Amino acid sequence: MTYHALVPAAGSGSRMGALSGCALPKQYLPLAGQPMIRHALATLCATPAIMDVFVVLAPDDIHWPAAAMATLGPKLRVLRCGGDTRARSVANGLRAMAGELGEIGNDWVLVHDAARPCLTVAMVENLIAEVGEEDAGGLLAMPVADTLKRSDDNGRVRQTVSRDGLWQAQTPQMFRHRLLLDALDFAPQVTDEASAIETLGLSPRLVAADVSNLKVTYPLDLQLAAWILQNREQS
Ligand code: C5P
Repeated sequence: MTYHALVPAAGSGSRMGALSGCALPKQYLPLAGQPMIRHALATLCATPAIMDVFVVLAPDDIHWPAAAMATLGPKLRVLRCGGDTRARSVANGLRAMAGELGEIGNDWVLVHDAARPCLTVAMVENLIAEVGEEDAGGLLAMPVADTLKRSDDNGRVRQTVSRDGLWQAQTPQMFRHRLLLDALDFAPQVTDEASAIETLGLSPRLVAADVSNLKVTYPLDLQLAAWILQNREQS
């Protein structure tokens, strides 16, 4: 089997920017001595099963630190075809990959957020092993631990929602190239790849991950991610 990684990194990180007052897109914020995005790219490049790692940038991105990325080696490939939503960035990236590699419809593509810097090679290998050859693909996810409340318009509890069977979706999410592109063309409004696959009536496999694969959205997340990365380096 052939596995490719695709990292959409064409977002502006507006929630983080609004709170931190920093104009640098979120994926380039300094984290444990590197631009945040370099951590996930390094993990994906270091995963032996992954043949190449495509990163999707906004066409007008002036912040991509090419020199710092050159040390990641020849697996890393840059595509400047980001769109105005995450789903469009991923779909554009899938098309551009096929343009460079040829017929890859049956190959697996692992889509991973630039904003999840604490991914490990073991997490990626576990996802690949657990999904195996399942047609519907799969994703890393975490069973919901907290009790969930639905609010009314006044910020009061309207309802307690059962957490039974509820999971928080993470990335990577892995699907066959052709299926994922078809799904995103069919459902371009989705916020993750699994949702697009679900609209085709398929049920991707949930592979249990852990809380350390957090997504950096707010300034405090950046501190948590730094703690996780530094703690791993020392242990
Ligand atoms: O904004 P959010 O954290 O949900 O973005 C998730 C990922 O999707 C990030 O890696 C971000 O750079 C990427 N993205 C993108 N193109 C967009 C919006 C987000 O590649 N238009």
